[in-house]
Amino acid sequence: MANTGEKTRLKPLIRRAAIEKRVREVARQITRDFKGQRVHLIGVLKGSCIFLADLVREIDLETSIDFIAVSSYGRGKESSGQVRLLKDLDSNVSGLNVIVVEDILDTGLTLNYLLRVLRQRKPKTLRVAALLDKPSRRIKKVESDYVGFKIPNEFVVGYGLDYAERYRNLKDVCVLQLPETAA
Ligand code: IMP
Ligand code: MG
Repeated sequence: MANTGEKTRLKPLIRRAAIEKRVREVARQITRDFKGQRVHLIGVLKGSCIFLADLVREIDLETSIDFIAVSSYGRGKESSGQVRLLKDLDSNVSGLNVIVVEDILDTGLTLNYLLRVLRQRKPKTLRVAALLDKPSRRIKKVESDYVGFKIPNEFVVGYGLDYAERYRNLKDVCVLQLPETAA
């Protein structure tokens, strides 16, 4: 890697091969659950884009995709606690089998807000697929129907997840240790 010391700050937590395998399993589950129907995936920008791209190609159903963007985090690691809609959907979801695709479920504030907004638009069904789940951090009582991996309370980057917009391109999900928190 380009920066000195970078290696010691990024610790692989979930390797690429394990992610690939699990994404296929989640897609198979979705394919079984919605047999013969169409599913409409809504990616929550930007963190979910890589997960969504891999997931949708493994789903053996008629699919469509859309994106929504919300902001609850500033540039750092802590949520501001306030969720704002930055980009709305392009099309109506009324009567569709909607699956919200999230990178990570942390405090639950983002998902709680999104589910409230989407429910008002009367989808036929409304489910959630999250690559990662940090259950210990939950503030709002929301659950994901499909979870890739439950992880401990660590700040992770890679496979779409960022720290201040960096590291989204890492193939593994890695724990990010900032210099001041490093052991
Ligand atoms: P929540 O509203 O606290 O559940 O946060 C959800 C959003 O916060 C996710 O979609 C991520 O964008 C971001 N987030 C939460 N935990 C992490 C992390 O460990 N690494 C990177 N982003 C995170
Ligand atoms: Mg996000």
